[in-house]
Amino acid sequence: MAKKQIERPPVPDLFETLKSSKKEVWAIAGGKGGTGKSFIAANVGVALSKMGKRVLLVDADLGCANLHTFLGVEPTATLSDFINGKIKSIDKVLTPTDLPNLMLISGACDFLEIANPKHTQKNRLIRRIQDLSFEYIILDLGAGTGFTLLDFFLSADTGILSVLPEPTSIENTYRFIKSAFYRRFKKMAKDPKVKELIIAAMNEKNELGIRTPHDLLDHVASIDNEMGQKMKEAVLTFSPKVIVNQVRSRDDMTLGFSMRSACAKYFGIKVDYVGYIEYDDYVWMATKKKTPLILERPYAPAARCLNQVVSNLINRDELKLDSILKM
Ligand SMILES: Nc1ncnc2c1ncn2[C@@H]1O[C@H](COP(=O)(O)OP(=O)(O)O)[C@@H](O)[C@H]1O
Ligand SMILES: [Mg+2]
Repeated sequence: MAKKQIERPPVPDLFETLKSSKKEVWAIAGGKGGTGKSFIAANVGVALSKMGKRVLLVDADLGCANLHTFLGVEPTATLSDFINGKIKSIDKVLTPTDLPNLMLISGACDFLEIANPKHTQKNRLIRRIQDLSFEYIILDLGAGTGFTLLDFFLSADTGILSVLPEPTSIENTYRFIKSAFYRRFKKMAKDPKVKELIIAAMNEKNELGIRTPHDLLDHVASIDNEMGQKMKEAVLTFSPKVIVNQVRSRDDMTLGFSMRSACAKYFGIKVDYVGYIEYDDYVWMATKKKTPLILERPYAPAARCLNQVVSNLINRDELKLDSILKM
C-alpha cells in the first residue's frame, strides 16, 4: 500500500450504521517480541475485510506500536491520545486504510508510561473498544506477561498466541498461558486467602510447590471447595488458540500438536492448534513495502497459510494432523 494523504473517516455515520451488529474480539499475543503478532494481526484483519466483514484493528502494543506500518498508513491520532484524555471519544482516533471496511486504531511508541495505564484507564479503554460496533475487532498485543496485556487478552472472545518453533518462544508461550490463567483466577477470587495463594503461585519458584494451574486448583479447593469448583469450570471455558509461525519443516508444523498435549497434561488446559504459517521471504518483502502480504502476494505460501488459519478461527476448527502427514 503506497503512503498517501488520508482523509479522516466519516465516523458518526459509520457508527450509526454499525450499531447493533454482532461482533467478535480476537486478541493476538505471544510471550515474546518478534513472533509475528503484528504481521498476523494486520493480515488477519485484511483477510476478514476481504471476506466483506467490517473489521477494526487495534494496536494495543502500547510499548512499541507499529501495526500502522504493516498497513502502510500514517495515523493522525493514536490510542495514547485517548488514554491521556487529549481526545475524548475513541471513534475520533480511527484511521482508515486502503480497504473500505478495515479501520485502524493506532498505538504509540512515545508514551512509555502508558504501557502501564491505571486500572480505571484500562477498564475504560477495554469497555470503549468493546463498545465499537464492528463485526471483528482484532487486538495486536505487545510482548511479555504484564497485567495490562493479560487483561486485554482475557477481555477478548478469542485469545490467539503466535509462537515460533524455537525453545525460547515455546517457553514464553507456556509462561504466558500460565500467567493468563492465574490472572483470570485472581479476578474471580473473593476470599483473601485464595487471593494470597494465587499471588504466591505466580512466583514460579514458590515454596508451596505450586508449579501448574492444576496444582493451584487443588490448593484452592482445599481452602474453599466452591471456589475451587468455579475455577475448574472457568478452565473448561477458556481455550487459547495457537498459531505456529515461521515454520520450515514438518517437525515445526507438528509443534502445535505437542503444545496442545503438553497443556492438557501438565496444565489441565485445552489449547486449540489453529494452524501454522510457513517461513516465507515474501513476508519481509511485503513488510519492507509496508503492504499487507495478503494484498501484495495473495498466493504466496504464507498468505495461503494465513487464509487457512482465518478460516479455522471463524469456523472454530483446528488443524488436522492428517493434513500434515499427507504432505
Ligand atoms: N512467516 C514469516 N516468514 C518470514 N518472515 C516473517 C514471518 N512472520 C513474521 N516475519 C517477520 O518477522 C518480523 C517480526 O514480525 P512482527 O509481526 O513485527 O512481530 P511482533 O509483532 O510479534 O513483534 C517482521 O520483520 C516480519 O516481516
Ligand atoms: Mg508487533
